[in-house]
Amino acid sequence: MTTRELTLPTAELHLHIEGTLEPELILELAARNGIALPFPTLELLSAQYEFKDLQSFLNLYYANMAVLITEADFADMTRAYLGRAQAAGVRHAEIMFDPQAHLARGVELTTAVDGIVAALASSEAEFGISTGLIAAFLRDESEDSALEVLEALLSMGAPIIGIGLDSAEVGNPPSKFVRLFERARAAGLRLVAHAGEEGPPSYVVEALDLLGVERIDHGIRSVEDPALVRRLVAEQVPLTVCPLSNVRLRAVDTLAEHPLPRMIEAGMNVSVNSDDPAYFGGYLGTNFEALETEFAWGASVARTLAGNSIRSSFASDSRKSELLAELDSWSAAQG
Ligand code: HPA
Ligand code: ZN
Repeated sequence: MTTRELTLPTAELHLHIEGTLEPELILELAARNGIALPFPTLELLSAQYEFKDLQSFLNLYYANMAVLITEADFADMTRAYLGRAQAAGVRHAEIMFDPQAHLARGVELTTAVDGIVAALASSEAEFGISTGLIAAFLRDESEDSALEVLEALLSMGAPIIGIGLDSAEVGNPPSKFVRLFERARAAGLRLVAHAGEEGPPSYVVEALDLLGVERIDHGIRSVEDPALVRRLVAEQVPLTVCPLSNVRLRAVDTLAEHPLPRMIEAGMNVSVNSDDPAYFGGYLGTNFEALETEFAWGASVARTLAGNSIRSSFASDSRKSELLAELDSWSAAQG
């Protein structure tokens, strides 16, 4: 498939830029920077992409970041993502990065930020994709560490639109980060957090009530709590669902058992996203194709999902109107 999914205009709201680092680029950057990799060939490296849970993925994801040293490395990674996203129909992308993961390796904040921002600066002109940058904080690190890095980002004037919370979820509830989110809110930043990926529905409730987030990343385990489902429907809280990620990290056994159809049916505000596409089998277009193959939804569900993504984005009202008009044209062309 299919021309339809490939050109469906969408916003991608849940994307870790470090998760777009393809094995080929890892090897290229390792060579460029003189870094010895534990898995130094494409064959050896590619054999590592079997995951049993979130942590087993995170281990490889953090290890592979070792090749990101210079501003140009970050810019090349980001540009490669934008090219692939454009091919998948992405028209607006809100991109997370993990500042603490780079600082821990001795890479300066400015190197990561300036490299990513250099690529984002030409994104609209080069790829037709408007963008926003979100600093994601590692929930398995301390809140003090996150606060220190947030202050550094603010004082360097990093052009971030918001903050998020990612990494190992279970045992690291949103309640650990109340002061971080208060500080970010006071700084005028938008607020999102991963919750209910591997963690229980109560983490989704905490993220909403204690952190005041505007969107939940993943949120699939919400379906285990009927009262929470009713609330998410009533408040139309956006949930950025990542179907292929959930299958590859075994949050669900198979795509056929993924809760997304039930979430749509219940009237939840869900969108489809690629999370870490270099690790989970594909970019946004591949996620839509897999869903189409599994559930044979047709154009009206695709339109709902794309509309949700655009409306749930932090794009300007005028950009949202522009993209919703594009979506109308797409729908009309489906006949
Ligand atoms: N979950 C949590 N943390 C992450 C992920 C994810 O899917 N990707 C990158 N960091
Ligand atoms: Zn994620």
